[in-house]
Amino acid sequence: MKDMPPLAPAIEELEISRIAQVFEMGFGREKLIPLWVGEGDLPTPAFICDAATAAMRAGKTFYTQKCGIPELRQTIADYTNGLYGTDVAAERTVVTSSGMNGIMLVLQGILSPGDNVVVVSPVWPNIVSAIRIVGGVDKPVCLDPLPDGGFALDLERLAAAIDGRTRAIFIASPGNPTGWVMAADAQRQVLDLCRERDLWMLADEAYARFIYDGSAGNRSAAPSFLEVSVADDPLIVISTFSKTWAMTGWRMGWLTVPAMFSAVLDKLIEFNTSGAPHFLQYACITAIREGEPFVTEMVERCRRGGALVFDRLSALPGIRIAQPRGSFYAFFAVEGLQDSLAYAKRLLNETDVGLAPGSAFGPGGEGHLRLCFASSEEKLTQALDRLVPVLAKGV
Ligand SMILES: Cc1ncc(COP(=O)(O)O)c(C=O)c1O
Repeated sequence: MKDMPPLAPAIEELEISRIAQVFEMGFGREKLIPLWVGEGDLPTPAFICDAATAAMRAGKTFYTQKCGIPELRQTIADYTNGLYGTDVAAERTVVTSSGMNGIMLVLQGILSPGDNVVVVSPVWPNIVSAIRIVGGVDKPVCLDPLPDGGFALDLERLAAAIDGRTRAIFIASPGNPTGWVMAADAQRQVLDLCRERDLWMLADEAYARFIYDGSAGNRSAAPSFLEVSVADDPLIVISTFSKTWAMTGWRMGWLTVPAMFSAVLDKLIEFNTSGAPHFLQYACITAIREGEPFVTEMVERCRRGGALVFDRLSALPGIRIAQPRGSFYAFFAVEGLQDSLAYAKRLLNETDVGLAPGSAFGPGGEGHLRLCFASSEEKLTQALDRLVPVLAKGV
């Protein structure tokens, strides 16, 4: 077959995700337990689906305001302010067609070719690819692994990574894949740095509701950059309906931005999606307004899943794993592991359990495996019964 005409170099160079490489090997296996992906095993609750169908039947099927229908923007602002005690105005919230779409829009808005983003790593690999697609450069700053299996961010190293072409700092907390949760004090310091150096702070808070340990006190969400910011700070918070309301397939999310940046997004959305699907926006209002009992149940389920995985894996001598703190992943180190992709494939072949290789998450990830524990205890127990004897033998 004749070669294709040339592609943009940045696209030609995009790597195939290492998670996808394991996924392709395992897809369709009869006994497969897939714990490699970033989603739970619960379908979207019926009351949210019903709201979408009702809106569709009621004729909510037209083009809408590019930044989202006013009712949804107001509902998101109310939800945010309820969670954090903030005073975010509806004009500062912008509805997007998923968290991923939100990230892409922001990067289109702030990066010119050759600009860089300092990215706290290990990180969800889509961030890195998104930066590269728009001609940017990612500058990873690794979290330091702690003896208890957790991670810590060295703020001095973060500041030292900034150079004349840096336009933004990207931090996901609670983190995917690490489960690391950033403390409010550190958020304050990083936001100060962004103010001083005229940088955007891109805060990915997709897993905001998934927190488990006592350090969070009675909070129902992880510390948010919004709590330490004022309205016109150079802060962009990325959020999604995917995880909290079990809506990964809906592709709905939102951004919280300084009001002036909403106008930039209004322009950009026109040329990307021209707005999120009309009837889905009504379902998102229902998800927020009526979804709290479901969210509580979902987070409790993850708490039980995380505890189960921690109990079984922390008992193994060659495994270093942290008590689950946030997000819904266990990111554990395996003693002597140097090629996590090959090892994830081996585990798949020997156990039919799908895990994500740590190297998929960039610098600082090698030597680890990621397991998503947003599943039933029954399924996790079955997976662990298969994994533990193999992991116990060592690499
Ligand atoms: C850290 C992080 N941010 C954002 C997203 C985006 O999710 P979505 O595009 O489904 O809204 C994900 C999904 O896995 C994620 O892990």
